[in-house]
Amino acid sequence: MQSSIAYRYLYILTSSTLSVLPTKPSKGPRSAIGNASRRCFQNKVNNKSSFLTLKLSKQSNNRTQRLIGNMAMISLGLDTKELAHQYEAVSEAQYQAGLSLLKKLEITAGQRVLDVGAGTGRLASYAASLVGQDGRVIGIDPLEDRINVARSKNQPNLSFDVGDAQDLSQFDSASFDVAYLNCVLHWLPDQLGALNQIARVLKPGGRLGILGGSGDRPPVFETIKKHVLSHERYRDYPESTGNVANFPTQHELESLLQAAGLCGTASFTERSIITMQDAESMLGWLDASTFGNYVGHLPKNLCDTARNELGKEFEQLRTDRGVEMEMVWLGAVAIQV
Ligand SMILES: C[S@@+](CC[C@H](N)C(=O)[O-])C[C@H]1O[C@@H](n2cnc3c(N)ncnc32)[C@H](O)[C@@H]1O
Repeated sequence: MQSSIAYRYLYILTSSTLSVLPTKPSKGPRSAIGNASRRCFQNKVNNKSSFLTLKLSKQSNNRTQRLIGNMAMISLGLDTKELAHQYEAVSEAQYQAGLSLLKKLEITAGQRVLDVGAGTGRLASYAASLVGQDGRVIGIDPLEDRINVARSKNQPNLSFDVGDAQDLSQFDSASFDVAYLNCVLHWLPDQLGALNQIARVLKPGGRLGILGGSGDRPPVFETIKKHVLSHERYRDYPESTGNVANFPTQHELESLLQAAGLCGTASFTERSIITMQDAESMLGWLDASTFGNYVGHLPKNLCDTARNELGKEFEQLRTDRGVEMEMVWLGAVAIQV
């Protein structure tokens, strides 16, 4: 059923905005990052960044407070072997989005790359083809079943370990040329903590790429879930109305990257259409993508009721191509100076 999902991926809009210390209008991602990086470095030298850092720390503290409330809501215990294999089969949306992120990161032969939250390793496997035999890609993910699927890829320059974005102590400082989080940041209870860790393991000049849902334009499946689970019968389950997946806004993402000491942030948005053959397939994609967190926190009987109600809402989005949802991706590339 899942493998026959009709999937269409369209880039309808791509915009790059230079969001930190803009100089001249950018000619493209490379020049945008280069200009911003130079200015950022200059500011560091001139010690002008302290005001910005102060402002951001305050925002980050507020944000951290908000995120602490989320910690209890996200479960890494709802994943199964089946969901892991299902993710490998249905994660075309995340994979295609990830390919566009890797393109912006301009990965070259011989580089050392860290894929944080690698899942079943599809994107890491592609990254390994970019770095070639003299390079190395390491993927980490806290879910053992996903790491087991990833390990079956068996490429000599690619390895996977169970690990957490918020604790990268197994890696030396300044040991990676590139690190990226594809569809991962919104799951992290301590987003700034993770970015600080990644900044530490990046070499000077190393690049961090991030791509995921946008808090400015939350995914339709999240809005529908909030609406359905706001009904009285789900109220005893706080995850029903809580913000389990914490998608940052563009402003928040840029602030986080700056607070982590990264420079030259070029943030961008992309839009795609996710098409599944029916509501059941859409629910399957969501179960696998959220490692069981979409409605898995509900007791069995309520879970079935919720899936029924969600399915009816999804069917409202049926076109002649299938059930379709717009997805606005928010991304950024930043540099360790
Ligand atoms: C939607 S999947 C994305 C997987 C992969 N990056 C991709 O592009 O297909 C989200 C991943 O985030 C991982 N994740 C959740 N919490 C994490 C954490 N604290 N540290 C690292 N990864 C985490 C999940 O285990 C899951 O594999």
